[in-house]
Amino acid sequence: MTVAPASDLAGSAASVPRHVAIIMDGNGRWAKARRLPRMAGHKAGMESVRAVVRAAPDLGIDVLTLYAFSSENWKRPQEEVGFLFGLLKTYLHAEIAELDAKDVRIRVIGQWRLLPADLVKLIEGAIDRTRNNEGLTLVLALNYGSRDELVRAARACIADGLSDDEVTEEAIEARLDTAGLPAPDLIVRTSGEERLSNFLMWQSAYAEFVFTSTLWPDFGAEELAKACETFAARERRYGGL
Ligand code: FPP
Repeated sequence: MTVAPASDLAGSAASVPRHVAIIMDGNGRWAKARRLPRMAGHKAGMESVRAVVRAAPDLGIDVLTLYAFSSENWKRPQEEVGFLFGLLKTYLHAEIAELDAKDVRIRVIGQWRLLPADLVKLIEGAIDRTRNNEGLTLVLALNYGSRDELVRAARACIADGLSDDEVTEEAIEARLDTAGLPAPDLIVRTSGEERLSNFLMWQSAYAEFVFTSTLWPDFGAEELAKACETFAARERRYGGL
C-alpha cells in the first residue's frame, strides 16, 4: 500500500465531503405555509431529492445518504405512510433509467424488506440493476433507525459466534447496514430542527453537522453546494489537537 504524502491530503480534494447524509425535514411546514395538504409537501420534497441527487456528483460527493423513512415514521397516519411509499415507487420508476445511465449505484439501509411487497420488489430491482455502477452511491434509509441497526448488529455478532474479545468496533461496523461505506463526513438537517433523530448514530461519531432553516422542498443544488462550502471551512481534528 502506498501512503499519500501529506501535501496531497492537504489539497482541495480533502475539503470535499466524500459522504453527505441528509435528514430531509420540513415538508409538512412547507405545505402548511401554502395552505396545502401535507402530501403536497412530500411531493415537492421528491423534487428536492431529484435535484440533490443530480447535483451531488458535480460537487465531488461519492456517497449521498437520504433519510427517506424512519422506523418511527410508521406512527404517522396510514394515509400519509401510504403516500410516502407511493412517492418512493414513483421516484424509483421514473428515475431508475437515468440513475443507471449516470452510473449511480443504489443501496438501501434499514429494514426495507418489511415494506410493502411491491415496493420491496422495486427496490430489489433498482439495487440489482445498479449493482456494478461506479459513480455516486445513493443510499436510501428506509424503515431505518440507528438503535434498531445497532441491535441487529449485536445480534449478528452473537449469531456469528463471536467471543467477547472478537466483538470489536470493526466487527460491529462490518455488521451495520452501512458496512463498506465510508462514514458520513457531513450531516445536513433542514427546517431548523437540530436533532439526529435516530439517524446514523454510530457512523456520525466524527461527522460535521450543518443545520439550515430552509425547508426540505426549498432545498436544492445551491443549498447543497453551500453546505459543502461550510464543511470545507471547518477544521476536523478527530479528537487530536
Ligand atoms: C420530513 O418532513 C420528511 C419525511 C418524513 C419524508 C421524506 C420524504 C421525501 C422527501 C419524499 C420522497 C423521498 C424519496 C427518496 C423519493 P415532515 O413531514 O416531518 O415535515 P414537518 O416536520 O414540517 O411536518
